[in-house]
Amino acid sequence: MMIKAPRGTEDILPSQAKKWQYVEAKLKDIANAFNYNEIRTPLFENTELFQRGVGDTTDIVQKEMYTFTDRGNRSLTLRPEGTASVVRSYVEHKLYGDPTQPTKLYYIGQMFRYERPQKGRNRQFVQFGIEALGSSDPAVDAEVMALAMESYKTFGLKSLKLVINSLGDKESRTNHRQALINHFTPHKDELCNDCQARLDKNPLRVLDCKKDRDHPAMKSAPSIIEYLNEDSKKYFDQVKSYLEKMGIPYVEDPTLVRGLDYYNHTAFEIMSDAEGFGAITTLSGGGRYNGLVQDLGGPETPGIGFALSIERLLLALEAENITLPIDEALDCYIVSMGEEARQEAVGLCHNLRLSGLKVDIDYLDRKMKAQFKQADRFHAKYVLVLGENELKENKIAVKDMGTGEQSEKSFEEIISFLKKSIKGEVK
Ligand code: HAM
Repeated sequence: MMIKAPRGTEDILPSQAKKWQYVEAKLKDIANAFNYNEIRTPLFENTELFQRGVGDTTDIVQKEMYTFTDRGNRSLTLRPEGTASVVRSYVEHKLYGDPTQPTKLYYIGQMFRYERPQKGRNRQFVQFGIEALGSSDPAVDAEVMALAMESYKTFGLKSLKLVINSLGDKESRTNHRQALINHFTPHKDELCNDCQARLDKNPLRVLDCKKDRDHPAMKSAPSIIEYLNEDSKKYFDQVKSYLEKMGIPYVEDPTLVRGLDYYNHTAFEIMSDAEGFGAITTLSGGGRYNGLVQDLGGPETPGIGFALSIERLLLALEAENITLPIDEALDCYIVSMGEEARQEAVGLCHNLRLSGLKVDIDYLDRKMKAQFKQADRFHAKYVLVLGENELKENKIAVKDMGTGEQSEKSFEEIISFLKKSIKGEVK
């Protein structure tokens, strides 16, 4: 019986992997331009980190974690997201002591959630995310959203919508929380079991429920915006005015609450409104989490970040018919005939590779015509031919596959000729 990849996972085969490499390199460039530095944290963490970090009442912690006991009887969890891990590392290594505050970090890596797989939703997926820790300047909120938007715009994506909301500070949230309890309590019996429990523990989560989405009480639920106190309102206004200064359009949605517990003040999502994008239109999300560092044992430190999945980014590119400018071409392919010529060809191939050129040669004992065909399949820019005649004259026949031009070069001059030609300096 053939064994298949586990449900919700996918192999990234070479032709796809090129796209991934291209996208990841671009995202790293963007992070670099905004002065975010890479951090790499473990793929698994102590389960408690996510229970405390992401929140006990969230779907992620209640239903979606890959949790297992290791041979030392520890409860470990494959990370469902990156923020809790980054904050754990920030606290553990006292990065807050570094004079270059705020600490601006980015990561790219696999995340794991036991969700119902569908297009754009996998059980293993790759997030690119950033976290800025140590500043409560609303300009940082705008910076994070600007970087998030740039992560799509850089590829030429256009059908994008930045949706923002404020969840307010502690006082605003406490007042809103009470209003939600008052609002939903008369309907408690009509809500799903999860929501009945959430109503006491964390009523904000009720608004995020997939089952009770259509209950009439949802639409009339009190909006956080009405409960923002002066400070929270002012903060939100400043964030919006920075976005305007940067020329980044946004829409406000007071129902945007996000699925993780650590957020306060700014919350945002980027949606695709491209036709044919599919049922899941959220490309990425993020927000401010001013209490999280302290919740995970660090000093009181504000933070904000966002994450996107590369899977959904690639789907968005597909939906907008964008082809990435990936150079797949081989610099040169070496065609040889006869045993002696082949010996030389193998040596030449190695030398060309060492000089930094992308070169290949036949390993299936193909006839000359079939070797040329192989060169075409690899979109070789040059074909080098070594046969008996060439060997006798100590020359290599060179064919420029772009122009069809043919010439002869000595073994001494071939490397510098190819390097110059391929770089476009000499034709
Ligand atoms: P999140 O909204 O749970 O937030 O996930 C962020 C993004 O990860 C989503 O918008 C989506 O692109 C992608 N994603 C999530 N689940 C899946 C899945 N099953 N399959 C494919 N893609 C998925 C967070 O994870 C927060 N840590 C973001 C953040 C960083 N907030 C502050 N800092």
